[in-house]
Amino acid sequence: MPALVLLGAQWGDEGKGKATDLLGGSVDYVVRYQGGNNAGHTVVVGDQKYALHLLPSGILSPGCTPVIGNGVVVDPSVLLSELSGLNERGVDTSKLILSGNAHIITPYNVTVDKVTERFLGKRKIGTTGRGIGPTYADKINRVGIRVQDLYDESILTQKVEAALDIKNQVLTKLYNRRAIAVDQVVEELLAYAEKLRPYVADTVLVLNQALEEDKVVLFEGGQGTLLDIDHGTYPFVTSSNPTAGGACTGAGVGPTKISRVIGILKAYTTRVGAGPFPTELFDEDGEALRRIGGERGVTTGRDRRCGWFDAVIARYATRVNGLTDFFLTKLDVLTGWEQIPVCVAYEIDGKRVEELPYSQTDFHHAKPVYEMLPGWSEDISKAKSFSDLPKNAQAYVKALEEMSGAPISAIGVGPGRDETIEINSFL
Ligand code: GDP
Ligand code: IMO
Ligand code: MG
Repeated sequence: MPALVLLGAQWGDEGKGKATDLLGGSVDYVVRYQGGNNAGHTVVVGDQKYALHLLPSGILSPGCTPVIGNGVVVDPSVLLSELSGLNERGVDTSKLILSGNAHIITPYNVTVDKVTERFLGKRKIGTTGRGIGPTYADKINRVGIRVQDLYDESILTQKVEAALDIKNQVLTKLYNRRAIAVDQVVEELLAYAEKLRPYVADTVLVLNQALEEDKVVLFEGGQGTLLDIDHGTYPFVTSSNPTAGGACTGAGVGPTKISRVIGILKAYTTRVGAGPFPTELFDEDGEALRRIGGERGVTTGRDRRCGWFDAVIARYATRVNGLTDFFLTKLDVLTGWEQIPVCVAYEIDGKRVEELPYSQTDFHHAKPVYEMLPGWSEDISKAKSFSDLPKNAQAYVKALEEMSGAPISAIGVGPGRDETIEINSFL
């Protein structure tokens, strides 16, 4: 049976939470495979709104087992408070399983994230300040702390010592900060051990056995393709692989198991934090997209940068992820524009370029080449099928599909679960 990957096709915040929740009722497992609580996934169920940061959005579907895979970085205090917040709202979280190999975001990783950003000044990345980059850096440097380390005090102490050795030199000598005491960190981390114990499991084994038993597994990406450490707009990226391959390494499931890769694609474009963004708008249209689309960060509360749809990016997402489908979100936000510009190519140093340039310098110089598509003024939020959409909205979707290289199998016309037009079934 299928393993499906659902991921962001742009710079994050495409509506992955809503899409995951929509499928949650029909799948057995929902797995986060990378990132951490830098993510903010909104799910609206009836009159209830949930903002999930670390937990997979499948946690809101009673039949579904939520999984935090080995590729995720976990801040234990955030995880525990997210769990208790959901429990207070009557959500059963007891099925959650957490990989013992997932790395822990320690308090010093959060400190290093904030201090580094401050030190970078104008050159900062605009991170979420949640310790994501420094935790992945420790993982790659082989001085990371894993969930399983919480259950061996002696190993934990040795590892925290190793991790703080160089960091304390940097913090005190370069950044003029106080050194961080090993004992204090160990004590804080040990306090989480028993609270997390019921969730810790060999998630790789569980997921592979589930697939052998024909269960349906959905991998829910955090962030988006253009924020990928390898395939995104480096260095203005996050420190993990949100792209499809990340699901294999971040959950321990082979690529042969994955049958469908769904790219979540906003009908326009947004970005939070620094970095190039060819279709970004600095005018009233940008303001209007922000206002109508409610484009404010779920995690940091920052205003999102807004711009028109960029088909070059969508094509790129199709390519690097091997997308089989798109889920187009927020089409309703575009209601009311007489004409809607869509970026079909770039002009770089006087030349027309159809595909995303691999050179950072070229991408920084990319100017959007727009095609104007006719808009619509009818309210589309009640549309249930493609034919309910006004002709121009249908033509907009078809044009995007043509340019983006994969079928648009669902369309979001509002934040609620049922505000979705399903065209092709995902399962
Ligand atoms: P994620 O990080 O990809 O899960 O996306 P976010 O939750 O950060 O941002 C998406 C926002 O758009 C949330 O507020 C969703 O409730 C909302 N949303 C999702 N799909 C739609 C849609 O089709 N129409 C409208 N109007 N809002 C949507
Ligand atoms: P979801 O899952 C949008 C951005 C940050 C910053 C860069 C690096 O909700 O789509 P980090 O803290 O990860 O080191 O920051 O990545 N970023 C996101 N932007 N949506 C997200 O998650 C993001 N997670 C990180 O703004 O530019
Ligand atoms: Mg988000």
